[in-house]
Amino acid sequence: MSPKEIVEYLDRYIIGQQNAKKTIAVALRTRHRRLQLSKDMQEEITPKNILMIGSTGVGKTEISRRLAKMMSVPFVKVEASKYTEVGFVGRDVESMVRDLVTASISMVRAEKEELLADKIENYVINKIVEKLLPPLPATISDEKKEAYQKTLKSMEEKVLSGELDDKIIEIEVAKVHLELVESNLPPEMQKVQDSFSKIFSQMNKEDNKKSLTIKEAKEALKLEASSKLIDTQSITSEALQRAQNGGIIFLDEIDKIAVSSKSQGRNDPSKEGVQRDLLPIVEGSSVSTKFGVIKTDHILFIAAGAFHMSKPSDLIPELQGRFPLRVELESLSEDVLYAILTQTKNSLLKQYKALLGVEGMELVFEDEAIKTIAKLAHKANESTEDIGARRLHTVLERVLEEISFNADEYSGKTYTITSEYVHKKLDIVVENSDLSRYIL
Ligand SMILES: Nc1ncnc2c1ncn2[C@@H]1O[C@H](COP(=O)(O)OP(=O)(O)OP(=O)(O)O)[C@@H](O)[C@H]1O
Ligand SMILES: [Mg+2]
Repeated sequence: MSPKEIVEYLDRYIIGQQNAKKTIAVALRTRHRRLQLSKDMQEEITPKNILMIGSTGVGKTEISRRLAKMMSVPFVKVEASKYTEVGFVGRDVESMVRDLVTASISMVRAEKEELLADKIENYVINKIVEKLLPPLPATISDEKKEAYQKTLKSMEEKVLSGELDDKIIEIEVAKVHLELVESNLPPEMQKVQDSFSKIFSQMNKEDNKKSLTIKEAKEALKLEASSKLIDTQSITSEALQRAQNGGIIFLDEIDKIAVSSKSQGRNDPSKEGVQRDLLPIVEGSSVSTKFGVIKTDHILFIAAGAFHMSKPSDLIPELQGRFPLRVELESLSEDVLYAILTQTKNSLLKQYKALLGVEGMELVFEDEAIKTIAKLAHKANESTEDIGARRLHTVLERVLEEISFNADEYSGKTYTITSEYVHKKLDIVVENSDLSRYIL
């Protein structure tokens, strides 16, 4: 995807924030460009990590969520603060790299399965039909053979179409040792766990003959087929490559591990500890995973934070330096709030309409009403705390609560939300800042 296309895609879901979108799009494209260069040139070019700064509710996490959906590169999002939570202090920061590898593996695996979908399906159907139709004795007339072929064909079709899904058959399914399954243990622990599970799987080798419905058998056989047809070795090595050269780690809530200079005396050693732990990973180091060693030099890190209580300069200097690209997200104006309501795919208004549609009522918003909602949401953001687009949730909830409660009465009817109605519901609350602190 070209930078323009990435921005266009993001535009469908996120209004404004063009700077952030552009920077990220360029960073992604740069990685693609890098891979076209000669090997030693590639070694030299390290990604420029990005720091997104913006107050709460302006789309930081949303941008990353959409990116993750769109990108066909391994992507994980982690909360930097989780490494400081009670009980997690000292939690292995490297685990985020392992998560990335896991994400990469399931991606590569899914692609391979897609490629082999036909073969896998054949395997499954054959196995099931074998159970349903006893095999043909060798000595038999041609006539009978032909008839048999016919039944076989129709049986295959029936199994495929799901007509027989509820029928129960007895079938032996190989125990698939899912070694590619997600796990967050450090490699040493992992080995212990693996050897245990191997022992156990050998212990109950005999009893893998099971009575399953055909539907269940299909699932089980699918697993068996893909583990037979797909070479795990090639998956892991490709997955490692991809994570290494194309992986993105989104570090959300990075401001939560910054130690504000204001709160002197209450310096939190664990936060700084997390920052120090992050350094080598962001800088480039080798992390050993269950599937092999991965170098983090070329992984792209995108960090995001509101930086309300702290500033980027409160991060330890070494870490600041590792995020050279800074983008600021603007706070949302009235017009942007209006656009968020009307232009985004799956906007809140559409969601409410769909939800109430289930009750058989049609909800219509007059354009003026939407403008009023945006205006009052903006006002509430100004007079109390700026919580960005999240304010729209609370405001809309307030506007619609009564209708939502009485939805059954409006079944089969149309309800139009007018500007007056919005005013009626919200004015008292918005005018009174004490009240809006609680309700909005
Ligand atoms: N510019 C925008 N365009 C469309 N929707 C937006 C925009 N900004 C925020 N939203 C919506 O507001 C909600 C909150 O946004 P998001 O989770 O991205 O906030 P954030 O910037 O990560 O805030 P925080 O700092 O609290 O984590 C989401 O539902 C998102 O869809
Ligand atoms: Mg967020």
